[in-house]
Amino acid sequence: MSSYIIEGGKRLQGESYVSGSKNASLPIMAASILNKGITKLYNVPNIHDTQMMIEILKSLGCKVKKNQNKIVIDSRNVCKYEIPENLMHQMRSSVIFAGAILGRYKKAIFSYPGGCDIGSRPIDLHLKGFEKLGVNINKNFGKIICNVEEITPCEINLDFPSVGATENIMLASCLANGTTTIVNSAMEPEITDLQNFLNQMGAKISGAGTNIIKIQGVNKLKDVSYNIMPDRIEAGTLLGATAITGGEILLKKVEINHITPIIDKLGQMGCKIKLKEREIELKAPKRLKAIDIKTMPYPGFPTDMQAIMGACLTMASGTSIITENIFENRFKYLSELEKMGAKVKIEGKSAIIKGTRTLYGTKVNSTDLRGGASMVLAGLSAKGTTKVDNIEYILRGYEKLDEKLNNLGAEIYKI
Ligand code: UD1
Repeated sequence: MSSYIIEGGKRLQGESYVSGSKNASLPIMAASILNKGITKLYNVPNIHDTQMMIEILKSLGCKVKKNQNKIVIDSRNVCKYEIPENLMHQMRSSVIFAGAILGRYKKAIFSYPGGCDIGSRPIDLHLKGFEKLGVNINKNFGKIICNVEEITPCEINLDFPSVGATENIMLASCLANGTTTIVNSAMEPEITDLQNFLNQMGAKISGAGTNIIKIQGVNKLKDVSYNIMPDRIEAGTLLGATAITGGEILLKKVEINHITPIIDKLGQMGCKIKLKEREIELKAPKRLKAIDIKTMPYPGFPTDMQAIMGACLTMASGTSIITENIFENRFKYLSELEKMGAKVKIEGKSAIIKGTRTLYGTKVNSTDLRGGASMVLAGLSAKGTTKVDNIEYILRGYEKLDEKLNNLGAEIYKI
């Protein structure tokens, strides 16, 4: 297990950039196996989760070459339709392979996925979607065995706009004979990136970005080169890190439209923000102001930014209320922040944060990916030295976080 050591109290200042999106890369990598050919992906973040996806692709029979942020996937000779259990348990997104494998082979075997412990995270909506497409599902000692003669296109109404279920249904129905409609689909930008990728590969999908997606099946797909969109949560994390240290940043390679709810909240907290094309300039006040936040599916405030803002609000003037509406177990990081002097009370789905002037460096734990990142933010602004343990969580999702922060004037290193 590795840790970050952070010497706090340094005001972040300078220029940085946003890497490719983790949550867009993962389903797109899985989608590559739908085509019996070559997929070239650019701007893929070099992180643990994308490496795990490469391991799954290889286990299915793909040849994968990686060079920094470029990945070439040759799926001509994919021969397996079972995802190894140990890889399945490494991450939540492994489940997206189910739709892609079903789409290509009409059968798939997998187990329940792993991932960050932020709630119960069932996959019932994924499986209900497959069943509506005519897939037979048998569960046997933790294994989920799916078979279908022909995917039967239909209309699927999701009970909740689940990102993963929307992606899985899109992948399973791409090569079907007819049109599948997803009603109450997730509207996240990563879904639009997946649609754009699939369409460049020859699929016929429309509606991503709205709550109705139509997938018109095609017979065949073709080779594709695709550039992954920027990571909106990494953008928010770098802006949050600047805000909590009272700093200023010019952040490049940002898709401004994807982060408007984050920009709005940072503005309410007193940050001065200038937007340019694919660039954002943020100047933080000496002390941030307390605000209220409610997480919601896109275009609402993203749950993945909740812990980042939570760290910032521990030092704001006044009392903030954060309401977490997506995952039921996403406040664990707050008890770690309490060790640093944060004043927090949790009541059901809400956390009440009374701002304090100073956090104090100490030993804290990463509770999950974004919870871990919030520890880093708190460490950057704290008095003294902070040791953040279990940073494997952070490394799952952030590319060069320490390097980017050090370039902005932070003092953070890995041990
Ligand atoms: C994706 C993101 C994750 C983000 C989340 C919500 C990836 C790799 N991960 O996760 O970073 O926090 O969207 O924006 O893209 N649910 C069910 N049954 C299901 C599926 C989901 O009840 O079958 C529930 C979940 O428990 C949760 C809510 O729906 O409460 C949202 O989950 P979902 O949108 O599916 O999130 P993920 O795709 O897992």
